[in-house]
Amino acid sequence: MRGGLWLVTGASRGLGREIAAGLVRRACRVLAVARDPHALAALHAEAGDAILPCPLDLADSQALSRGLAAVIDTHGPFDGVVNNAGIGSYRPFLDHGEMALLELLQVNLGAVMQICHALLPGMLARGRGHIVNIGSDLGRRPLAKMAPYVASKHGLAGFSHSLLREFKGAGIRVSLVQPGLIDTGFGGRKPGDIDPTQCLATADLAQIVLDLIDAPASLVIDELTVHPLGQTDF
Ligand SMILES: NC(=O)c1ccc[n+]([C@@H]2O[C@H](COP(=O)([O-])OP(=O)(O)OC[C@H]3O[C@@H](n4cnc5c(N)ncnc54)[C@H](OP(=O)(O)O)[C@@H]3O)[C@@H](O)[C@H]2O)c1
Repeated sequence: MRGGLWLVTGASRGLGREIAAGLVRRACRVLAVARDPHALAALHAEAGDAILPCPLDLADSQALSRGLAAVIDTHGPFDGVVNNAGIGSYRPFLDHGEMALLELLQVNLGAVMQICHALLPGMLARGRGHIVNIGSDLGRRPLAKMAPYVASKHGLAGFSHSLLREFKGAGIRVSLVQPGLIDTGFGGRKPGDIDPTQCLATADLAQIVLDLIDAPASLVIDELTVHPLGQTDF
C-alpha cells in the first residue's frame, strides 16, 4: 500500500529504521517510535518531514498507553503499523534478572498487544488496516540460552495468527515476518560482526517487508520466514 499513516516501533536503528525510511519513500507518513530521541532526530533529518519522531519507552506500559492516546488524538487513524522493536540476549536463563524477564515480555509482546488494541478501533471504523509483526525464526523453534526471547516470539506468533482470524473479515491484514539472523546491532552486537553468509542484510529484509506491505489489498501474507542461505543450523 502506498501513502497513508504508519507507526513503526524500533525506528531508531536496525531493521525498523530501514523500514521507516522505505515507507517514507513510498509516500507514507511514519510515526517513528524508539527511546533514543537523537537517533530519531537523525532519521527525521535524513528522511524528511514525513518522519514524525515519537520518543517512547515500550517497557513503560503506562507511558505507552498515554502516548498512544495522544498520537491517535493528534494524527488520527493509522493505516498500518510495523511492530518491529524487540530485545533479547543469549545467556543462561538463571542469569536473567526477574525485572529483565518482565521487561523483555513487555517490549516484545505486551507493547505489541497494547499498540494493536489502541490502533484497531480506527482501522475497523475504516474497514482497512495492516498490522505487520516482526517475529523471529525463534518463534518456530527452541534454543537453549534464549528461553525468554523464544517464549516472547512464540507468543507473538500465536497472537498474530489469532488476531488475523478474528479481524480478517473486517478488512484487517495481520502479517508475521520471521527472520533468521540479521546484520544489526541486536543483543549488543555491532552491524558487520557476523559473517555475511550467515546473516540477512538489513536492507534486503526491509525490502521484503515493504514488498509484503505493497501486496494487493485483496490478499494477506500471514507468515513469511526468511533465512540467509548460509544458515544451515535451523
Ligand atoms: N538481529 C537479528 O539477528 C534478529 C533476528 C530475528 C529477529 N529479529 C527481530 O527483528 C526486530 C528488529 O531487531 P533489530 O535487529 O533491528 O534490533 P536492534 O538493531 O537492536 O534495534 C532494536 C530497536 O528496538 C528499539 N527498542 C528496544 N527497546 C525499546 C524500548 N524499550 N522502547 C522503545 N524502543 C525500543 C531500539 O531503539 P532504542 O534503543 O532507541 O529504544 C531499536 O530501534 C526485533 O523484533 C528482533 O527481535 C532480529
